[in-house]
Amino acid sequence: MAVMQRGATRSRRGAGGKPERITGRGRIRATLPIDLGERSYAVEFGRDWLETIGRRIGGRLGAERIALVTVPTVSRRYAPMLTRGLRAMGVRVGRIVVPDGDATKNLQQLSKLYDRFLELGLDRQSAVVTLGGGVVGDLGGFAAATYLRGIPFVQVPTTVLAMVDASIGGKTGINLKQGKNLVGAVHQPRGVFIDVATLRSLPMRERAAGAAELIKAAMIWDAEFFEWLESRIEAFLDLEPKVVFEALERACRIKAEVVERDEREGGLRRLLNFGHTLAHAIEAHSGYRGILHGEAVAIGMVFAADRSEALGFAPDGTRSRLEALLERAGLPTRPPDRPRRAYLSAMAVDKKKEGDKIHFVVSKGIGSAGTALLGLRDIIPPGWRA
Ligand SMILES: NC(=O)c1ccc[n+]([C@@H]2O[C@H](COP(=O)([O-])OP(=O)(O)OC[C@H]3O[C@@H](n4cnc5c(N)ncnc54)[C@H](O)[C@@H]3O)[C@@H](O)[C@H]2O)c1
Ligand SMILES: [Zn+2]
Repeated sequence: MAVMQRGATRSRRGAGGKPERITGRGRIRATLPIDLGERSYAVEFGRDWLETIGRRIGGRLGAERIALVTVPTVSRRYAPMLTRGLRAMGVRVGRIVVPDGDATKNLQQLSKLYDRFLELGLDRQSAVVTLGGGVVGDLGGFAAATYLRGIPFVQVPTTVLAMVDASIGGKTGINLKQGKNLVGAVHQPRGVFIDVATLRSLPMRERAAGAAELIKAAMIWDAEFFEWLESRIEAFLDLEPKVVFEALERACRIKAEVVERDEREGGLRRLLNFGHTLAHAIEAHSGYRGILHGEAVAIGMVFAADRSEALGFAPDGTRSRLEALLERAGLPTRPPDRPRRAYLSAMAVDKKKEGDKIHFVVSKGIGSAGTALLGLRDIIPPGWRA
């Protein structure tokens, strides 16, 4: 597996191979191509390069006008640099700041975005740039997917979760009051630009929640990456540059490989939902408050690993190794104390249902996963306690 290194290293990625790596002026840069035919794009990594990102976006899209969609904290810290780069390329930038929080992914905010796009005079030659976490990526991306039947967009993710998960795969969308992510579109971005320096201001709790999705990627796909994380999780959370670069890149590569092979959610893409069946039930029950998505995923993964062992899919010891790593990341691993029937009813409304059964993602040991069509009673057996 690739090891990040300084020095003049250049290599092109072959199918499923190593990404191109360009280093210079003390900054590690890497480019990971996402191969989706004519919708292909690249994830570009760097550090302290927001202004350069602005220039690149401006140069690449050739858009005269760009709407920059962001949230208050991120806007204050990072929008000026990005905007400077865009303006240097002659782009007219309109900044749109939406409120923080998942509740922002709603129809009203979407409608406000369309209003602002029209005020800014965005046309088919214009573009949307989202700067922030998964919330602005999903909302801004969906607005771009639907405005004038779709205009280009670029993501500049600033959370771990958005970098390794939300920004790859092209899923965009909003929540309805009946549930999360019920309306959406697959709209691939023209590019994803990651500045790891933005993670310095990200609260530790958010970093850890993002790390849960990193661990998930390793858990379903790459035992060696899991082992690598076992010796570096603290360094990752402390944002040691080399470790952050390699971890993000490896997790992105896993998601990219899955998405390249299965853009529209056949069997393979389901593996990315490892830990998510219980996680969604926990989130729904908490009214999406008090628990972060990554935290619910951590709990859900331990549960899934435990059930996978019990059902004979995973060897003994899988759960305990996973649990140990998640605990070191400061993540919760035990479900909130609720009656079994509460979990069952929350799972019964799961989107991935097929008749009375669910495509449950099982662990087949560290680094490997599969799906099993299981009844709810197999997933949460009688007598199970949170
Ligand atoms: N499209 C997909 O494939 C996909 C995948 C996973 C998750 N999602 C969606 O992503 C959303 C969650 O994303 P998230 O965890 O990034 O949440 P988020 O966008 O709400 O960001 C988390 C918090 O961090 C703050 N923040 C962001 N960057 C910061 C920075 N650099 N410094 C300081 N604070 C910063 C935000 O203001 C927010 O308070 C959910 O809505 C989920 O549905 C989408
Ligand atoms: Zn997730």
